[in-house]
Amino acid sequence: MTQNAEHFKESGYEPVEQNVGKKNKKFEKLGLKKSMRNVFSKIAEHRPRRGLLEKIEEIRQGLQVDLDMQQRIIKKLHISMQRGLEENTGRNCDDGREDALSMFLSYVTSRPHAKTVVGKECLSMDLGGTYLRISHVKFNAHDGGQFKDEYEIKQEKYKITDEAKTATLFEWVAEQVEEFMETKAIGQIEKDVCIPCGFTFSFPTDQTAIDKGILRLWCKGFAVPDIEGKRDVVELTQSEMDKRGVKVKIVALLNDTVATMVASTYFHSRTAMCTIFGTGNNASYWEKIKDIPKYTPPDKNSGARVGGNDSSNSSGGASDDEMAINIEWGAFDNLREVLPYTNYDNDINRRSPPIGLQVLEKMVAGLYLGEVVRVILVDLIDHKLLFSHQGNDFMSLRRFFREEYSFDTALISVIVADDSEDLEDVADIIAPELPDHVNITQLDLLIIKYICLLTSIRSASLSAAMVAGVLLFRNKHESLVPTVLSDDPNQNIVVVGVEGSAYDLPGFSQFLSASTNSLLSYNNVKFKAVFEFVQNASILGSAIVALMTSSA
Ligand code: BGC
Repeated sequence: MTQNAEHFKESGYEPVEQNVGKKNKKFEKLGLKKSMRNVFSKIAEHRPRRGLLEKIEEIRQGLQVDLDMQQRIIKKLHISMQRGLEENTGRNCDDGREDALSMFLSYVTSRPHAKTVVGKECLSMDLGGTYLRISHVKFNAHDGGQFKDEYEIKQEKYKITDEAKTATLFEWVAEQVEEFMETKAIGQIEKDVCIPCGFTFSFPTDQTAIDKGILRLWCKGFAVPDIEGKRDVVELTQSEMDKRGVKVKIVALLNDTVATMVASTYFHSRTAMCTIFGTGNNASYWEKIKDIPKYTPPDKNSGARVGGNDSSNSSGGASDDEMAINIEWGAFDNLREVLPYTNYDNDINRRSPPIGLQVLEKMVAGLYLGEVVRVILVDLIDHKLLFSHQGNDFMSLRRFFREEYSFDTALISVIVADDSEDLEDVADIIAPELPDHVNITQLDLLIIKYICLLTSIRSASLSAAMVAGVLLFRNKHESLVPTVLSDDPNQNIVVVGVEGSAYDLPGFSQFLSASTNSLLSYNNVKFKAVFEFVQNASILGSAIVALMTSSA
């Protein structure tokens, strides 16, 4: 394992714990900002020692994202998106000179149609930051947007090993597919026929065709050598499967955001974009081909259009001259010009690969939020403002306060959702990390909750600016809602597909939606964004595109 990858040995950002659900319901009524203010008042009531209120106010200001900042983010996002559409940009701005977004072409050039997939089956592989999911997917009748019974999935989930992340990834993937094909007895598939497979690969990948893509940059703690900028990930995976005689043919490669957007569009035809809050963070959107200068459409008679040409399913502004674009917005503002970048972020960025890159992702995504909270708490400990009654004993604090990435983002959910008077859940999480003789105080617990709230609010506010920014960008050339039904924006809806466990942070989705919509209204558009979480989206999306490709 490389030294950098060491930091991520526990990089499994696990989905939020089940028991948070009930508390979330209660919490939702309060809202993130209100809860933040309540906690601050309680901290003040404790009449803390000198310097504490000033310090946490300084932290709050550093993490704050106000309307002006959101507007500046939107403005820069538009410039970065436009530049990325115009030309293929370097390697996500690591030379400090360019600041365009990748805006990768997906070669998915048509919205999904039920008639192309219904009654068909295929394989879908989803290689994310933490797991490989292999699924056999079968589509049943599409029933007017009802999710239930429309598809069947037989799925296996494999935790990606450290060795795979840093050395043997493609051999390891082929091994799991072989195991899946042998043990999960997919009755319907004839043994000698290759089953088509959609491959969701959640890394910045420069696609040159629907089934070809060169990995641009490893992120999320992956570091397999000699791949970046050189190797086609489909070819690598396919040749490993062929060596094993696995009867699977990868026919489509998709970024997870593109796959999710396809699935979201399948169920909600008004889908305009999608965003993922998982281990990593990114988004894709449907762009008009005429507005993608760097793309030259193939001769109409050559090559396959992905998805046929039936636009009858496209009531939300769809038409056949669109392509799904993988924005790779995790790399937004790598130059650190408009984001509320703090020294805590510098610290994390400096020691988290890809160093200096994926700047936005490291402020928003599930892999990093826990680490942001942890470094702020360590700073408070160093200033003797947390657990400070323990004198100079702070160096002996255990895991959370010593080991990088040891504070899992899922804990933020539990902490933020704890609205009990004495913050029992927060105490249960923190107490085991302290030496036996250290007693945690109520004030300590409140401070910890406050920092978790601030971090969640920053993530949601930045995400809102990015979502609103993409919708406004796409709306510039041509209205996203072609037929404005009413002057009331509530009547004119565009859907934003969402996936990822960090979206489950208590209050996150409500805050994101409210903030996105107030930005849209501030920018005078007459539509409203509705966020739709799509179950199994990245699995379904790549299966849909695999079937569309096979039948094109
Ligand atoms: C990757 C994206 C991916 C996102 C969400 C990021 O780290 O660069 O390609 O879409 O994570 O999984």
